[in-house]
Amino acid sequence: MNQAVLNVVVARRRDEAPGIASFELRSEDGGPLPAFEAGSHVDVHLPNGLVRQYSLCNDPRETHRYTIAVLRDEAGRGGSRAVHDLIREGECLRISAPRNHFALAHDASHHLLLAGGIGVTPILCMAEQLAASGESFAMHYCTRSRERTAFVERIAQAGFAQSVQFHHDDNAGGSTFDIEQVLKGAPAGTHLYVCGPRGFMDFVLDTARANGWPQERLHYEFFGAPANQSAAGGAFQVRIASSGATIDIPPECTVVQALAANGIEVITSCEQGVCGTCLTRVIAGEPEHLDSYLTDEERAANDQFLPCCSRAKSPLLVLDL
Ligand code: FES
Repeated sequence: MNQAVLNVVVARRRDEAPGIASFELRSEDGGPLPAFEAGSHVDVHLPNGLVRQYSLCNDPRETHRYTIAVLRDEAGRGGSRAVHDLIREGECLRISAPRNHFALAHDASHHLLLAGGIGVTPILCMAEQLAASGESFAMHYCTRSRERTAFVERIAQAGFAQSVQFHHDDNAGGSTFDIEQVLKGAPAGTHLYVCGPRGFMDFVLDTARANGWPQERLHYEFFGAPANQSAAGGAFQVRIASSGATIDIPPECTVVQALAANGIEVITSCEQGVCGTCLTRVIAGEPEHLDSYLTDEERAANDQFLPCCSRAKSPLLVLDL
């Protein structure tokens, strides 16, 4: 995993819609930034010490800047409030190099891009990349109202504007989002990509699965999602393979927290099971996967888990630490 840190400066901050601001990041030395693909995100080290992941939403052919956009979430854990309150033009920030867990499947005959609210950021980047490479795609962008919709002007001026349909909950100037119809109208072999609030994503993915879409043609990213709830819920133990030490994990502690209390540090970032930073190999025992990062196949293999949120079904997990 690429842990490189880049020093960037906020070259521009812009209000895109009520509660949504975009930030254009350029390298501090004015040089080019590492190339990225649509779907990539960066870890942003915030001035208050938090680290949060944000998708890049500019054209991936650009190397002079990265653009992120952030919705202020008053009920969130503080990352988006820190971004809005503390990051001004001229601010120097540390970010990770881009990582991509939400990549386009370039062998697809057609791409269906579905964005809910601020989930538009990776989806817009995908539209840019698909339009640039001449691949077939359609984008649907669902928001509460036109006034609360970010990037309306940018999309209107883009060469791919005719491939984008807006849908607003208040139904003013847009159309109702009928996922069944959208799925039925997709050509055979279409790959679907969805990003947005958890309810929107569950609705899209559940409908697609109920309509027979295979998992390998469904692509999604759950940023900002709360970790899934544990069904087992109880205490268990973790054994450190290198030292043989056995550590109790009480119900109120994550594995990462319990390990830290015993002097064993696992590097984390999102702490919600979405970024993959804390991925740890499991040598024995059965994890209870509560993340949104691993694929179903990876979970079934039971040989790795995300200790920032996942727990154990078996009384003991032996970890490759
Ligand atoms: Fe992000 Fe664990 S820290 S998945």
